[in-house]
Amino acid sequence: MEKLLSSCLIAIMLVFCCTSVFGQGQAEFKTIKLEPPTLEKGVSIMQALKQRKSVREFSDQQLAVPVLSELLWAANGVNRDDGKRTAPAAMNIQAVDLYVMLQEGVYLYDAVKHELAPVAPGDFRKAAGMQPFVATAPLNLLYVADFDKFKTSQVPDAPEIAKLTWVAVAAGCQAQNVALYCASEGLGNVVRASFDAQKLAEILQLRPAQSILLAQTIGYSK
Ligand SMILES: Cc1cc2nc3c(=O)[nH]c(=O)nc-3n(C[C@H](O)[C@H](O)[C@H](O)COP(=O)(O)O)c2cc1C
Repeated sequence: MEKLLSSCLIAIMLVFCCTSVFGQGQAEFKTIKLEPPTLEKGVSIMQALKQRKSVREFSDQQLAVPVLSELLWAANGVNRDDGKRTAPAAMNIQAVDLYVMLQEGVYLYDAVKHELAPVAPGDFRKAAGMQPFVATAPLNLLYVADFDKFKTSQVPDAPEIAKLTWVAVAAGCQAQNVALYCASEGLGNVVRASFDAQKLAEILQLRPAQSILLAQTIGYSK
């Protein structure tokens, strides 16, 4: 009888542990290893330019990992042996981080490892902007300047206006890379400056030296 009771107790404890970990979706919220891009695909650059446009109606179809992988690589992935990227950056100071808001949570794109590092589990898409489509589109990107990155650069004392211009231009270049990838891949996208920066900074757990420059919503057009 005593043996039966202790077996029951162990079984109950096991069920409790499993539901408290898996039930909250924590088990799935971990680093996502991205796939290398397929380079032999896509429409011509001229066709991509012809098709680029802003889209504001999205279906709720999620992006498959290979598509997400290529999109982030297009944004600012490593494209050369010397570690440089698909997008330019003033003096190659990589001071723009790409936060990736998916249905299951927020991640940070690590371009060198080509993977997504978990930041915050949960569906925060509603907070990605002021327009209703942000809550249901599968992906919102947030381009975040990290002014601390200049401290260890060759220009730590550059004027603030110069630093701001450099990161804004770098973010714009990345967003345009994404827009052209979207045009080629049949995805819709819109870059946005409309968002509650304070609310988003809390969700992304940003430091004071970090500032959200731009957002971009992506998904399949309705
Ligand atoms: C810096 C910037 C901020 C923008 N912010 C928004 C925005 O908050 N919401 C939105 O729907 N579109 C936004 N747009 C998209 C523009 O409205 C759009 O590019 C413009 O109307 C031209 O349309 P097109 O992109 O289809 O050529 C923004 C574009 C830029 C470059």
